This record gives sequence, C-alpha cells and structure tokens, in this order.
Amino acid sequence: MDFGIKNRLSRIFSPKTGRTVMLAVDHGYFQGPTTGLRDMENIIPLIPHADCLFVTRGTLRNSIDPRTDTAFCLRVSGGPSILGELSNEDITTSMEEALRLNASGVGMSIFVGAKNEDRTISNLGRLINEAQRYGMPVLAITAVGKEMGRDARYIGLACRIAAEMGAQFVKTYYCDDFHKVAEGCPVPIVIAGGKKLPEMEALQMTENAIKAGASGVDMGRNIFQSDSPAGMIKAVRAIVHRGTSAAEAFDMYQKSRKAPVAEVADARMEKV
Ligand code: 5RP
Repeated sequence: MDFGIKNRLSRIFSPKTGRTVMLAVDHGYFQGPTTGLRDMENIIPLIPHADCLFVTRGTLRNSIDPRTDTAFCLRVSGGPSILGELSNEDITTSMEEALRLNASGVGMSIFVGAKNEDRTISNLGRLINEAQRYGMPVLAITAVGKEMGRDARYIGLACRIAAEMGAQFVKTYYCDDFHKVAEGCPVPIVIAGGKKLPEMEALQMTENAIKAGASGVDMGRNIFQSDSPAGMIKAVRAIVHRGTSAAEAFDMYQKSRKAPVAEVADARMEKV
C-alpha cells in the first residue's frame, strides 16, 4: 500500500488502537431529511467525538466548518431515492472533488444479490482504479436489499467481494456468527448501526462486533436518533477504543442523559 493511502487511512483508523468510530450522516442522499438530521446543526457537537465523518459533499459545503480536525470519508455514490430501485446507484462525485475537499477516503455502496449487483461491483472496481492513482482509500458499503437475508453467509460473500475488488475497508451490518464474516475478509470491517435500537442493544451489538473482529463502526441512527447523541457516541467510543463493556458504556450514556445539555454539547474528549 502506498504512502498516501496509508497516511489517509491513519486519519480514519486511530494509529493508537487501529480502530475507528465513524459517524454516518449521509442518509439524506437517498432518504431526504432523516429524523435526527433534519437540521444538520444537531450533529455539530458530535463531530469532535468521531474519528471520521461519513458524509456527502452537500453536507460538507452546507453544514461543516472547514476548520474541523475530524477526518471525513466522502460518499461518492447515489442516484435512486428511497422511492426507486436502490441498487441503481452510480458514482456521483468525482475523484477531483474528493481531492479538492481534502477527503481521507471515499465510499460507495455495492448491492450484492440485488438487481444491479454487477454494475455496482464494476463501478467499485472503476472507483478503486481511479482512487489508486491519487492515494485515496476506498470504503465499500455492502448495502442489504429488503429481500436479502442478513446472515454470515450472505454478508461474508458481499464483504469478500468488496475486498477482492480492492477496497481498503468495508462497511457492513452485524449478524450472528460475525466472526465468520471477519475471518473471511482480509481488510478492516466497520459495522453500520442500522435502524434505531434501544441504546443498550446498540451498545451490545457494538461490543459483540468488536469482539468478533470488527475494526470499528460507521454508525448513524443509533447515535443521532438517541435521546442523548453525545452520550451515545462517547459510549460507543469507549467500547471501540478502550474495550469498555457494553454495560459500563450504557452507564456512561445514562449519566450523560442526566448531565446539563451545555455540558454535554461542550464536552470534547481525547481522540482515544
Ligand atoms: C446507507 C449508509 C449509512 O451511512 C449507513 O446505513 C450507516 O448508518 P446507520 O448506522 O444509520 O445504519 O451507508 O447506505
């Protein structure tokens, strides 16, 4: 792997722990004003707690302070809305734009087993070919169609294909026997949170994923739709970077619910 790719990856994955807490806030690219992201101001206090934001160029331009020292990985795929055929995605943001915005990585979805799986996988290959020329890491997101099962066999298949195409890291969903997915995937895996769960369940899923071999999270709704988004991201961070148990992390979250809003919003924590 060349210097540029390694250097950018070290902004996403903490060199101290080899893990990452990515905050996914890209949902609007296909589902419009998502609960918790209607006003992007809500995510500003969370940014210092994330190693990396997963974000569209629109949100960067409209809502993010360019002086931020949190890295970001740019979503570069899109096309269909939630009303259309989701697997019909293409690459929508150029590599030139990713470089101009100073992205630490670019990410796109592949739809294994869905209508347009072949086109999305070859698009991933094309994106990686281009990204290689500029030292840009690529995150492949294994989107799960409504009709697809979320078992280790399917998720393992999708992750391995992404790695074989050359993605430097993969985002997928947690499932039972996740260790089988991790064992079959030669690049780091981060898990999405999926639909909002009760906080303790989301934290337990995070602990289970890390123990089964995940290198972190790229989590959205289970953080920004929580009644204490700052408390949740701090709790997730403790599990990912410090090996805190889900039960202890849940206590942290509960304490932050009781803390005055300003104290939570102003809190900045060390990056590990
Ligand atoms: C959609 C995405 C989202 O970023 C991803 O789903 C993560 O968010 P959440 O934790 O809310 O599932 O990539 O394709």
